[in-house]
Amino acid sequence: MQDLRASEIREILKLTQDPEVISFAGGLPAQELFPVQQMIEAGIKVLETEKGKALQYSTTEGYYKLRTAIAERMNNQGATNVTAEKILITSGSQQGLDLTGKVFLDEGDVILCESPTYLGAINAFKAYRPRFREVPTDEEGMIIPELERMLAEIENVKVIYVIPDFQNPSGRTWSMARRRAFMELVNRVQVPVVEDAPYTELRFEGEAMPSLKSMDTDGLVIYLGTFSKILFPGVRIGWLVADQPFYEKFVLVKQGADLHTSTLSQRQIWTFMQEYSIEENVARMLPVYRSRRDVMLETMERVFPEGASYSRPHGGLFFWVILPKECNSRELLRRSIERKVAFVPGGSFFPNGGNENTMRLNFSAMPEEKIKVGIERLAIVIKEFLAECCPQARSGV
Ligand SMILES: Cc1ncc(COP(=O)(O)O)c(C=O)c1O
Repeated sequence: MQDLRASEIREILKLTQDPEVISFAGGLPAQELFPVQQMIEAGIKVLETEKGKALQYSTTEGYYKLRTAIAERMNNQGATNVTAEKILITSGSQQGLDLTGKVFLDEGDVILCESPTYLGAINAFKAYRPRFREVPTDEEGMIIPELERMLAEIENVKVIYVIPDFQNPSGRTWSMARRRAFMELVNRVQVPVVEDAPYTELRFEGEAMPSLKSMDTDGLVIYLGTFSKILFPGVRIGWLVADQPFYEKFVLVKQGADLHTSTLSQRQIWTFMQEYSIEENVARMLPVYRSRRDVMLETMERVFPEGASYSRPHGGLFFWVILPKECNSRELLRRSIERKVAFVPGGSFFPNGGNENTMRLNFSAMPEEKIKVGIERLAIVIKEFLAECCPQARSGV
């Protein structure tokens, strides 16, 4: 445990409790869009119809009706052969990540991941003391010849962790060709894969891509899904899809972790799915998120100095910004907090460090006017910082 330190994001979020701070730091969905009334009604219905059962211990695998509904939904969206028997309900997909560590990683084992990758996954896996090896990425996802070389050279690779859709933090989505090449390689080398997919349905433009799980012929992919971004994160309901023999190992470790996920929350979500529609909820959210993305992009185009480049995500919740090499974004954060605007320094998303000239900006949690003001404030701080730390970079006004 000596190697574990407080998550930087959590520490920053404490500072952002100040209502005057415009925070692009968290990955929070827009709270004003949560279907609160529908959840009140679903909650009352569950307790009235199921009575004490809704408050009782239940099975580790999860509420069977909910598992069936999730399998059906995934199959409707293009997955194949997902059955309730392959689904384990988890306390958010974050628990799926922790259980992945328990199932696959002993001290010194190797986990391959994208560079950069999700900070919460790095922290979850770190507790099991693996070695992280970062696979280089480009606009289309993991670079396959690099992955192939690493798989040939590195011993003890136990699992590959990937986020193919609107990745946290880069906002990037893997191309179809990359998905095919990845699965072909994985099938050849027979290494398990964890596909983390919280953002798949938050697509504002372009065609939906098939999940890696839907292309998995050998039962090597463990898929992590969640209601956090398509409904709300506070209920802490996610799921994992795995084939045998992995499935039973996940059930065993979950039993030790928490016996089962909240009985009441699982039944409430299932009732929500019967009475209302997740699709309608997502359709309500997408235009709001799309506009917020557009406002952030337009403002960055207008006020960011030339030295700063940024992604153009087609969905998800994040922009990824790259500053000139000489600029340390942790120092930039200290200054921007003084101007009451926050973000996450990108270096946190690289398990082996480096890349301190990057930053992640969330666009879902703030209203449009605040996004505009926040980006304008940030641009001023960046310009001052660039002028100081790398005057040779053109700081265009
Ligand atoms: C890539 C990724 N995986 C997992 C999670 C955890 O989500 P959940 O709320 O389902 O635990 C997040 C949350 O932001 C995430 O970005």
